[in-house]
Parts: sequence; C-alpha cells; structure tokens
Amino acid sequence: MKRIPEPESMDTMEEAIELDKMCQKYIYILDEAMARSVTRMGIRTGKVLEIGIGPARIASKIVSYNPGLTVFGIDLSESMLKIAKENIKKFNIEKGKINLIRADGKRLPFRDNTFDLVLSHNMLHHIPDPVPLLKEVKRVVRQDGGILIRDLIRPPNKFIARLYSYMFGLGYTKKMRKLYYESMLAAFSRDEIKKMLKDAGLDVNIKSHFLTHYSLERLPVKRETSKTQFNRLDPFRELSLSFYVSGN
Ligand SMILES: C[S@@+](CC[C@H](N)C(=O)[O-])C[C@H]1O[C@@H](n2cnc3c(N)ncnc32)[C@H](O)[C@@H]1O
Repeated sequence: MKRIPEPESMDTMEEAIELDKMCQKYIYILDEAMARSVTRMGIRTGKVLEIGIGPARIASKIVSYNPGLTVFGIDLSESMLKIAKENIKKFNIEKGKINLIRADGKRLPFRDNTFDLVLSHNMLHHIPDPVPLLKEVKRVVRQDGGILIRDLIRPPNKFIARLYSYMFGLGYTKKMRKLYYESMLAAFSRDEIKKMLKDAGLDVNIKSHFLTHYSLERLPVKRETSKTQFNRLDPFRELSLSFYVSGN
C-alpha cells in the first residue's frame, strides 16, 4: 500500500483537544510505555528535546520518573502548545522542568551537541520528508547522547489499517478512529525507514513493538540503572503494555 501523507501540523484547537482525549484512551498505554522506555535508557540528569510534544503527557511522565531531567518540547501547532501548557499546570510539573517552544523539527533553533536525549513519539508520520528532521536530530544530540524516535508502522493494506482502528481504537469516537486510521496510512514502511536513516546518516537500531509501532533507538554511552517505581496501571493495561514493549 502506498503512503498517503496527512497534514503536518495539528493546527486546529478541535484536533488538539481530540488528540488529548485519545491520549487518555488506548494511547495512555503508549504514553506510559514511552516514558518507561526513556527511563530505562538510564539518563538521569541533563537536557531532553521532545520534537512534536503534543499535549505534553509523555514529557510530564518523563520528568516525574526522572526529576533530574529538563525537557524542551517543541511543536508547530499553537493549539497543541496551549493544551500542553494546561496539562503541565494540571499535573503540577515544577516550573522550568518542561519548556514549550513553537518551532519546526526540520529547523531546530538549538546549537549542535546540545541535548543528552532527543525524543519523538507518534510524530514522524506527520512529516512529508523526514530526512531533514533526522539530520537535525543528529546535529543537536550530543555524541554520547541517546535517541528514541517511536512511531506507527504502516499496515500492509487499508483493510488491516481499518481492522486495527477498531481493535486498538476500542472506545474511540468516530473522529478519533478516523485520525488513527489516517495516521496509519501516513506512516512509513520498514523499507522507507531504512532508506531515510541511510539518507540522513543516522545510526540507530530499529526495533518493532507489537503490530503497530517501531522505535529508532540509540542508547547513551553512559547509563545509570533505574530503581524507579513506575505507576501501576490496571491489570488489563499493564498486560497490554507488556505485550507492546516486550523485549524492550
Ligand atoms: C500525533 S501528535 C503526537 C504528539 C505527542 N508526541 C504524543 O505522542 O502524544 C504529532 C505532533 O507533532 C506535531 N508536529 C508535526 N509536524 C511537526 C514539525 N515539523 N515540527 C514540530 N512539531 C510537529 C503536531 O503538531 C502534533 O502536535
């Protein structure tokens, strides 16, 4: 199946609110999984960049598990940054721990070798051509720093994408299911991912998660072991999470 790109920025307040609501359904598991994966990478202090921070739910979890980290969260969408600001306040995140900036991931307003860790989650599929963004990731991350880019993988055909939108979008509204379905069609295939990494000269491991996602991961050179107690989810969500990130 050919890729069908979707609009890059999630500009309208309606879309931003809908995504924030989705994050409280099935995506809740994905957000928790991302925050735990980041914590297991073993970076306890320093600066983190999250590209396409969206509603800042993942960043909020990351700083609560790793209080020594400071996050710089960029997004193209003003509406999304507004929701992010409200969430940071709602979750009582200490002032200065998550800094929101309106910027484009393809032209980052940061110097070379600035960040100990660069992240993005469910955003790469928004980019028409991700090579410039991946080059920027390579430029701003420290040479000994970590990278974790996680996104949807494109299903083999529209039928499977539709099926996933019902199976994994259980409890979604019609609008949420549509957003999820369109995101799957806009996602990259494994061959496209390999090509874009080669073109960007970015050396990372490609990992698969369950049927739906992949990660581009580079572990930092120095890693501290974690004694972090993760939030306990209800048994169904905890089980789903363990399937999703098994082997991680
Ligand atoms: C599907 S949302 C994911 C948000 C968040 N990472 C999460 O997982 O909850 C994708 C986000 O990437 C943002 N985005 C898209 N293109 C971008 C770009 N070139 N630079 C920065 N942000 C971008 C969108 O506005 C949107 O907020």
